[in-house]
Amino acid sequence: MNPKIRKVVFPVAGQGTRFLPATKANPKEMLPIVDKPLIQYAAEEAEAAGMYNLVFVTGRNKRAIPDHFDKAYELEAELELKGKVKLLELVRNIVPKHVSCIYLRQAESLGLGHAVLCASSVVENEPFAVSLADDLIKCPGPSCLSQMAKVYEQFGCSVLAVQRVPRDEVNRYGIVEANADSNGTLRVTSIVEKPDPQVAKSDLAVVGRYILTPTIFNKIAKVGRGAGGEIQLTDAIAALLKDEPVIAYPFEGIRYDCGSKFGYLQATVEYAMAHQELGAEFTQYLRSILNSK
Ligand code: G1P
Repeated sequence: MNPKIRKVVFPVAGQGTRFLPATKANPKEMLPIVDKPLIQYAAEEAEAAGMYNLVFVTGRNKRAIPDHFDKAYELEAELELKGKVKLLELVRNIVPKHVSCIYLRQAESLGLGHAVLCASSVVENEPFAVSLADDLIKCPGPSCLSQMAKVYEQFGCSVLAVQRVPRDEVNRYGIVEANADSNGTLRVTSIVEKPDPQVAKSDLAVVGRYILTPTIFNKIAKVGRGAGGEIQLTDAIAALLKDEPVIAYPFEGIRYDCGSKFGYLQATVEYAMAHQELGAEFTQYLRSILNSK
């Protein structure tokens, strides 16, 4: 039986320059979709997959993230005094009791691979997940990480979440080539970080969810700087491929690229339309403004 995935690493040290000035003093992972920050969606997805050790690799200007997951005594006391029971529950249950949060600092912005390597002393010799909170993934059934954990339990090797992207956008992603085996499982044969669309070998892009075996840490330590002068997780996965199988997994769900303004707005509109309290009124409002244009 392959071990359960218990730990998930959230690299959250990035500067979020695409959202300036909003991200000048606030982490991009704290941007809300309707009323919940991106990082909380990502944490809830991991919890739903049974991953109860949340490892945040943070950087400067990211204090709001540990604060968000911490107890808020004054706020709780005030809500209690005013009898705002529902809000009190909501604030208290951001982190359920069985979930623990660990914070590490990535002192230098040396890339995603480097951020993951920073977590090695906490993850130790276990398979683990990596989740990039600005990729928000909405699934009709089990969460993306739950789907991937199931694949890991079956095959016991690294699993990458993938989706097809337009050809002219391949230079924004890690791009994989993969062969389907007789059961339709996609075995990765190559992976390249942000290839030029002219030379990319496929349009199958890695989105921000990974399950990795701990062998990846040795590989990251050896890869050196790649695309953009950064230590790339993709390059370490390319090295891992030489020793271990890696599966590309086309998850069932919709991914919103909340690292881009357009994707962020798409997610905001769609989550607002589906929101329990606001959905009906907001949808009607959208119809009315579209009809009046
Ligand atoms: C990172 C990874 C890339 C991956 C992408 C998914 O890129 O380096 O391989 O495809 O996340 O969102 P970034 O978006 O940080 O430039």
